[in-house]
Amino acid sequence: HYGGVIFDLDGVIADTARFHYEAWKKLAYELGIYFDKKTNERLKGIGRMESLDIILENSNISYTLEQKKYYAEKKNEYYKQFIQTLTPDDVLPGVKELMEILKRKGIKTAVASASKNAPTVLNKLGIASEFDYIVDASRIRKGKPDPELFLTAAINIGVEPSECIGIEDSAAGIEAIKRAGMFAVGVGDPKILKKADMVLKDLKDYGKIVDIISENITIN
Ligand code: G6P
Ligand code: MG
Repeated sequence: HYGGVIFDLDGVIADTARFHYEAWKKLAYELGIYFDKKTNERLKGIGRMESLDIILENSNISYTLEQKKYYAEKKNEYYKQFIQTLTPDDVLPGVKELMEILKRKGIKTAVASASKNAPTVLNKLGIASEFDYIVDASRIRKGKPDPELFLTAAINIGVEPSECIGIEDSAAGIEAIKRAGMFAVGVGDPKILKKADMVLKDLKDYGKIVDIISENITIN
């Protein structure tokens, strides 16, 4: 029986994937590098430096590690400005309703985000204390699609991976959930989230996740 639900943050709990996109777009523009939504799709769920490397694939200049660190930091400064505007009203529809039902059912909850800004975002949204565990991204060695973030969450809520459901908006994140041996719920475009066990348009459809738990539907 399912005992845990592990949430991605950006693009699942709040629409902050949009801010990551805007911040990278601003940086790419300054560097004179072509950047579009298709490239951005590859950045979802991926760490800061890895994301920069993907953006720099479209550049004919090669950058030193020092320069890369500088630009990654610059993007982060833009991102931090964007998230200042977040309020509790920015929690996406369905998230609080789902959390409430999970709490009532005694299901543990965790956040598994690669973002080092996750604690700030969750605090701004006013929901940090609602989760049983928030993975510290700075202690993670391998980002998504590696399962480490999701497995770390499972260990810390004390639930077997096979009894966990992971929720993600990125292809890399869905792969991480599957590699962790969990039930994967995708939120977004089914064409992008092909490997998910179930795809919802958004979490307003949270009832389908409750059904998986109530009916103990498993997929291998
Ligand atoms: C999440 C987001 C990515 C972001 C990564 C690192 O996985 O989906 O877009 O690059 O976190 O975030 P950070 O805030 O630490 O730069
Ligand atoms: Mg995400």
